[in-house]
Amino acid sequence: MKASRSAAERQRVWARIRGEALIAPSLLSADFVHLADEIKTMEEAGAQLLHLDVMDGHFVPNITFGPAVVASIRGQTDLWLDAHLMVTDPGAFLLPFAEAGADSVTIHAEATADLARIRQDADRLSIVLGLAIRPDRPVAGTLASIGGLFDLILVMTVMPGYGGQSYMEGSSERIREAAAFCAASPRRPVLEVDGGIRSGTVSDAAANGANWLVAGNAIFRDPNPFRAFRSLQAEVGGVARGPGRPAS
Ligand code: DX5
Ligand code: ZN
Repeated sequence: MKASRSAAERQRVWARIRGEALIAPSLLSADFVHLADEIKTMEEAGAQLLHLDVMDGHFVPNITFGPAVVASIRGQTDLWLDAHLMVTDPGAFLLPFAEAGADSVTIHAEATADLARIRQDADRLSIVLGLAIRPDRPVAGTLASIGGLFDLILVMTVMPGYGGQSYMEGSSERIREAAAFCAASPRRPVLEVDGGIRSGTVSDAAANGANWLVAGNAIFRDPNPFRAFRSLQAEVGGVARGPGRPAS
């Protein structure tokens, strides 16, 4: 059974992975009955983090899982756990997800009125705090007003709620806008992109400045998730560090 990290250990891992071009497998598209096996496959393929999509059926029209499942995942792996909260009132859930072992927690600003308190809570809990921007919200305007509060900026390239959608037109420009903000912001936030990432779109997102690239269907709906991960990671030039295994 693995445990949550100490604040110092989390900082060490964050410092190591924040600047890298990394594929973030989204477990939303995994086989939930065999989650432990799916996670092990990603570890062997060289993944450094796992993206966990939390949906409440209210902020988005779909329901996934909550802190109990995140705690079970934490018990299986030392990988960075990147929770993406698509929930109303995310501030109420920072503590439960931090206690469950999430390392980064990303929220949607339109779901809350209390960003300053959420920033304070994230500092107190020593977790990385992210801001997700939906395709129907302006990137530059949003970041100019509140972007400075966040350690990670998640540009959504599909409407949140479901895996398997297509990378939306106009995404390249939005990623470039966010990349310009991240390069100039004192916190130097990670720029993450989420939705419709597959061969082709992954290199577009990376070329426009994204460093963490979430991929769900492109990995877990592939007949060979191990190979699918490796091939996406190779496309953005990153190094797969896992122990590896023969690709069948
Ligand atoms: C959608 C989620 C995504 C989703 C991406 O609301 O935030 O993380 O898993 O799935 P794909 O890669 O299939 O578009
Ligand atoms: Zn997501």
